[in-house]
Amino acid sequence: MEFSIKNGNPEKQRNDCLIVGVFENKKLSASAALLDAASEHAITAVVKAGDMDGSLATTLLMHQLPNVMAGRVLLVGLGKQDEFGVKQYLKVARAAVKALPKAAKEIGFYLTELPVVEMTLQAKTAQLVEIFLDTTYQINALKSKKAEAIGLKKVAIFVEKGQEEEAKIALVQGLAIAEGVRMAKDLGNLPGNVCTPTYLGKQAKQLAKDYGFKVEVLDRAQIEKLGMGAFVGVAQGSDEPMRLIVLQHQKGKQEQKPIVLVGKGITFDTGGISLKSGAEMDEMKYDMCGAASVLGTFKAIGEMDLPINAVGIIPTCDNMPSGKALKPGDIVTSMSGQTIEVLNTDAEGRLVLCDALTYAEKFEPSTVVDIATLTGACVIALGHHASAVYSSQDALAAELIAAGEAAHDRAWHMPLWDDYQSQLDSNFADMANIGGRAGGSITAACFLSRFTKKYDWAHLDIAGTAWKSGKAKGGTGRPVPLLVTFLIKRAASH
Ligand code: BES
Ligand code: MN
Ligand code: ZN
Repeated sequence: MEFSIKNGNPEKQRNDCLIVGVFENKKLSASAALLDAASEHAITAVVKAGDMDGSLATTLLMHQLPNVMAGRVLLVGLGKQDEFGVKQYLKVARAAVKALPKAAKEIGFYLTELPVVEMTLQAKTAQLVEIFLDTTYQINALKSKKAEAIGLKKVAIFVEKGQEEEAKIALVQGLAIAEGVRMAKDLGNLPGNVCTPTYLGKQAKQLAKDYGFKVEVLDRAQIEKLGMGAFVGVAQGSDEPMRLIVLQHQKGKQEQKPIVLVGKGITFDTGGISLKSGAEMDEMKYDMCGAASVLGTFKAIGEMDLPINAVGIIPTCDNMPSGKALKPGDIVTSMSGQTIEVLNTDAEGRLVLCDALTYAEKFEPSTVVDIATLTGACVIALGHHASAVYSSQDALAAELIAAGEAAHDRAWHMPLWDDYQSQLDSNFADMANIGGRAGGSITAACFLSRFTKKYDWAHLDIAGTAWKSGKAKGGTGRPVPLLVTFLIKRAASH
């Protein structure tokens, strides 16, 4: 698929299909009005006949309009003109992509012209690209009969004269984010027997080759040598070899301290000896979505060649019950030297992350953000719409939340008050790995905070946002849009 930015009157475009909007009360968008005028009011006629009343996100496909060079015109309902905003724009874009005629090979969108107060042309353009690739995403890797490939070859996004350059920048960013999202979805959707720690290591090496990153993939012996007793403890119950993946993108100023992204990479979480119940346990293949979002973000910054210094750290292993597995009550010593009483082996994410967070110190980072499907409690608190943000610095939390707003990949600020810390007290070690049922997502963040004293740090709990359950089960690629937008803004501010 080839995307481009174009300018020109709609009636003159030789395309298989053009997409234009129609408001309620028979009000046509600018491009719909041009097509209407050229075609002896063919659009007004279908609107008058009642076949397209402009209701939000409804569609109607028209063929062979007189004096219009494109073979088809897809009308999309925009709803009431005075209510048209961000939500409506995104919904319209999604509906249009879903309704595209299968036979069309070259299409053109006339949607960025729609006025949305809270959206810039760049945002409208990037969102259109991201929604297009999100909506047409197919899960194919392991089906013997592949879904019918999309016949579309060329997608043009039409903008007004003088806006082309701005839109082209947005296109590059939108495509990069979409590519990163696709990678994160693909990795998340692969099952635990394919997407193993070894597999993630290979993916990181491939990215390094494609984009010139520095990469290291450490094995168990090397990880033990670093003193990562908590991480090794989780991995010891599984026959699948563990990995610590380190990616480095050094395209910023040499003296610039890097931003480190740490992603939880549990390629399958059974709970270990504190075994989970069977219902929906298959979804624990998604417990590496933090890692997937780091790899997806690196793909995006590699695509854009973003002028920034970034490090990705991924501790990855399975959490399995076995004769060698950690048992409740076992005490492990983390790389930081702090000891941890493992009261529940299902709280494994924080155990692998705490050692990766200590390892991050060696890069003398300006900022560290970890991303993890960390707690079921986070899903209870925020549902599936927002990722949770915890941070030792309010300004950093605000920065991440703003990036999420801009990227339409939202996050919400949660408290990280000291009041919660005592829930982690242990009689036998420096701390316990669980803090009871109350505020379970918060105490998990409190646990991580004890390993992040040496730098500015934020934690994203993505347990509710990284994948969808039920009929539409699948990875979402979140929070790649948030992370990439955060990095783009940081790169621009340097
Ligand atoms: N990977 C899970 C968190 C999770 C659960 C994400 C359900 C999405 C849906 C994590 O490792 C876990 O099991 N957390 C426990 C912690 C508890 C034992 C303190 C949880 O949330 O139940
Ligand atoms: Mn768990
Ligand atoms: Zn887990």
